[in-house]
Amino acid sequence: MRRLRKDLLRDIFREVEVGKKDLIVPVFVDENLKKPIEINSMPSYFRIPLSDVTKEIKNCLEMELNSFILFGIPSYKDEKGTSAFDRNGVIQKAVRAIKKEYPEAVVITDVCLCEYTSHGHCGVVKDGKILNDPTLELIAETALSHAEAGADIVAPSGMMDGMVKVIRDKLDDHGFEDIPIMSYSAKYASNFYSPFREAAESGYSFGDRKSYQMDVHNSDEALREIELDIKEGADIVMVKPALAYLDIIRRVKEKFNIPLAAYNVSGEYSMVKAAEKNGWLDGKAIAYEILTSIKRAGADLIITYHAKELSDILR
Ligand code: PBG
Repeated sequence: MRRLRKDLLRDIFREVEVGKKDLIVPVFVDENLKKPIEINSMPSYFRIPLSDVTKEIKNCLEMELNSFILFGIPSYKDEKGTSAFDRNGVIQKAVRAIKKEYPEAVVITDVCLCEYTSHGHCGVVKDGKILNDPTLELIAETALSHAEAGADIVAPSGMMDGMVKVIRDKLDDHGFEDIPIMSYSAKYASNFYSPFREAAESGYSFGDRKSYQMDVHNSDEALREIELDIKEGADIVMVKPALAYLDIIRRVKEKFNIPLAAYNVSGEYSMVKAAEKNGWLDGKAIAYEILTSIKRAGADLIITYHAKELSDILR
């Protein structure tokens, strides 16, 4: 076996390789800020003000990172998360600004209510319960407002049943038949999201997300989620988190012939950064290896906070 591992030859026999075009850069846009602030639990990652968003995109485009997923931190929150579908909300403004200056940037928007609701849950709450159907209309309206602003892809992440269908219908009814849906189809109720909740100010005030996000113990269920989303009209499906869920990525890839995204989430990033800070490992090398394993497991696209720091070593 060692014959093909020699320096000159090993490159030719590489089976997969992470490239810049596989990566999606998360961008946190905060309507309340005047200048960027570093996220405490995510070293070297920033929340940026609206006024800096085009600068950030330019920066990434120069590194040949062309795809982005936007998260918004709004200036007001209420019970129903109305700022999520405000035509002058933070995401709607950010998308318009980006697409005006950089039409070549691929802009994906996270469609969810948790950053916009006062209680921090991904749906309408009544008597301590997160309601499914009353949430759907709000999600569809949010997706529509993103499409109107110029988003290239909408990405619902709230794990409400039927969300892909209502978004598809809403977009089609308003002339956005050509806007694809990337669904967070198999999203687990994971502890790996806690740094994100600081980053996006989307922590919840009571309970947990277990009534809508998936049970960590299950994998057959992930296949059912994916199957439903495909039937409802998803164009791209997602598994989230990625690193502790490589088995799920693999099963989905083997079973379904559809573009598959994986979310290398905040906690996965923070763990690498913490160890790097302590001098315990080479953070960049580890990040490269992690992304490669996600790709090897079967992901076509990877949302990752490591994209910028790895851009100089990726093709
Ligand atoms: C919103 C959302 C979350 C993440 C992406 N979209 C948080 C959550 O579900 O609590 C997490 C991303 C990350 O941890 O990097 N629903």
